[in-house]
Amino acid sequence: MTQNLTLFTGIKELVTMAGAAAKDGRRVSDDDMGVIKNGAFLVEKGRLVWTGRESAVPRDLKKRIKKTLDLKAEAVVPGFVECHTHLVFAGDRAAEFEERNRGVTYQEIAARGGGILTTMKAVRAASKAQLLKLAQKRADVFVQQGVTTLEAKTGYALNEKDEIKTLQVHKLIEGPRIVSTFLGAHAIPPEFKTPDEYLKFLTSLLPKIAKQKLAERVDIFIEKGFFSVESAKPFLKLARELGFEVVIHADQLSLSGGTDLAVEIGAHSADHVIQLDETAIRRLAQSSTTAVALPAADLYMRCAYPPSRKLLDEGGRVALATDFNPGSSPTQSLSLVGLLARLEMKMTLPEVWTGLTYSAACALNLQKDVGSLEPGKCADFAVLSEDWRSLFYSIGHHPVVQTWREGRRLF
Ligand code: NIG
Ligand code: FE
Repeated sequence: MTQNLTLFTGIKELVTMAGAAAKDGRRVSDDDMGVIKNGAFLVEKGRLVWTGRESAVPRDLKKRIKKTLDLKAEAVVPGFVECHTHLVFAGDRAAEFEERNRGVTYQEIAARGGGILTTMKAVRAASKAQLLKLAQKRADVFVQQGVTTLEAKTGYALNEKDEIKTLQVHKLIEGPRIVSTFLGAHAIPPEFKTPDEYLKFLTSLLPKIAKQKLAERVDIFIEKGFFSVESAKPFLKLARELGFEVVIHADQLSLSGGTDLAVEIGAHSADHVIQLDETAIRRLAQSSTTAVALPAADLYMRCAYPPSRKLLDEGGRVALATDFNPGSSPTQSLSLVGLLARLEMKMTLPEVWTGLTYSAACALNLQKDVGSLEPGKCADFAVLSEDWRSLFYSIGHHPVVQTWREGRRLF
């Protein structure tokens, strides 16, 4: 018999999120946190083979234990899944933030060639090594908060050479599992006169990205002044045909039809989803598409928060993420995101935990591998030095003392 199992013990509360996973992230309540008191789990080749009470390790598995690790943990929780970030960028937009506070709007700044285009200039000017150094530091900050899966979008280069450069940076980041998303359709660069001209160019770029396997997903910003539903349709259709999964930045600043399109084409996620009417809310809630709420961006943009409460009450699945980027959400704090979800969107604590674990995994279509601690899934977890109930309470409070991905310690 091969002894190749590692037993993890010393866990006051093992938060599995198994109930939330069983309910597919919908209508979760307190019991769905799947808390096991005095818990333990067994890992083989980076995957969980058993979870349960420390006193109840099955006899046949006990014989195969090679190593036992006492985590001395108040709690062990699933590694967080950060499903929406614009991780790779250079420079900052602190000066524009000051302008916005003095009354200039985000759209006015964008219209005069600032905003996303300000960051575009900095990203084009930065070398791959410089971008990687910045991105790696940021990825480490996420890992220190217990993040084990991290989505990253391009969209600050808006030309072939530097979008590819950004995608290559995604592949070089170490630590968390990176989900790479091509968001060339983020804004219209100065080289193109109309959104459609630029989309035509992006259409020619997609096969190259597919061939080099630089991204798993394609995203598009559907919004007045950016890209329309009509032009997004053929673009996303081609992306699909090339094997990409598709997601949409939808209905952030105005009701532009992005959410309905996401539902219609069965996109894994519709992100932002703020300006929804009752019909759009119901359609989204009843679909397989995950709504991704980004409340830190809403705080910075001083806009409304998405109707998460309504979406959840209608049986929808709501994920939470930082939307970390230098413009609308210059923060990496999961603690702030969870707190805003509770305060401003009236999400319950189990809904917040589900939003940052199982539902976020659904948004990335990785729910079979991550998002809960159950046999067969990756041994991705965070060790807490405090009760898990103390998270998403004080702003900036991150009592994560260890982070593990596939049975390997990252932090
Ligand atoms: O998700 N909505 C578009 N994109 C970003 C903002 C990017 C930026 O301002 O740099 C967002 O909020
Ligand atoms: Fe975003």
